Amino acid sequence: MAKITVIGSASMDLVVTAVKRPEKGETILGESFKTVPGGKGANQAVAAARLGAEMYMVGCVGDDAFGKDILDNFKKNHVSTIYMEKVSDTESGTAHITLADGDNSIIVVKGANNFVTPDLVEKAMDVIRESDIVLIQQEIPEETVEFVSDSCHQCGVPLLLNPAPARQINKEVIEKAAYMTPNELEASVLFENKDLHSALAQYPNKVFITEGKNGVRFHDGEKEVVVPSYTVEAVDTTGAGDTFNAAFAVALAEGKNFEESVRFANRAASLSVTKFGAQGGMPARTEVEESM
Ligand code: RIB
Repeated sequence: MAKITVIGSASMDLVVTAVKRPEKGETILGESFKTVPGGKGANQAVAAARLGAEMYMVGCVGDDAFGKDILDNFKKNHVSTIYMEKVSDTESGTAHITLADGDNSIIVVKGANNFVTPDLVEKAMDVIRESDIVLIQQEIPEETVEFVSDSCHQCGVPLLLNPAPARQINKEVIEKAAYMTPNELEASVLFENKDLHSALAQYPNKVFITEGKNGVRFHDGEKEVVVPSYTVEAVDTTGAGDTFNAAFAVALAEGKNFEESVRFANRAASLSVTKFGAQGGMPARTEVEESM
């Protein structure tokens, strides 16, 4: 069984469904409102747990009702919360999501996720050292991402950096990460002034660009490879990237090669979009295997 640690955000998603997005200054009527667990870190931890990994989450919630629901949701999904902390006088992170025109738009308010600091990570070093792979994203402070990249590099644990949401990353962090999984927009921010084909060639078997319906592109050391995605009827694409990252990490930790790992992750991600909510459609291991 793969042992994986996620260091990242855990939030509550406040999701409005509407036929369109309002224009500036416009008020429109929505169709529904739901509150579901989310946050890129939490989504990745839950997705990997459903795929059979032993999961540890390092993160923070506020001392509020959302915080309690977020922790309960981890327990329900068999993600260990021993490295989760409650921060007083701070609200839990929230993501304000509009689903319209077949896609989402999201505003994240980090709240307690701002307290995922290097000190918190220090407390989890025992489990990080024993992990097959560590996953991190960018809804937590930049200094924490840098600290985790140094720490994983020092103790020889592969780090999968999902550079979402997009921001510039210092070169050392890129060099120290074992794997990076930007989407096209994030890749253009990461490798600005460079065309993406030469960026991929510079980082063979390390940078995997997720291109949605077009699949996943990487360089295998000799040539560029595109692993196609699966076509499904999408209900809600929120969390598809997180499912991809989690499944990719599980497959790599279990010793699958790069192409097999991407194919497994593409399949898991395609299933995840068939239900509502970031975590609603995240598949169990058997569902992915049976559908491949
Ligand atoms: O990746 C999807 C996630 O991004 C949502 O669950 C939301 O919380 C935002 O952080």
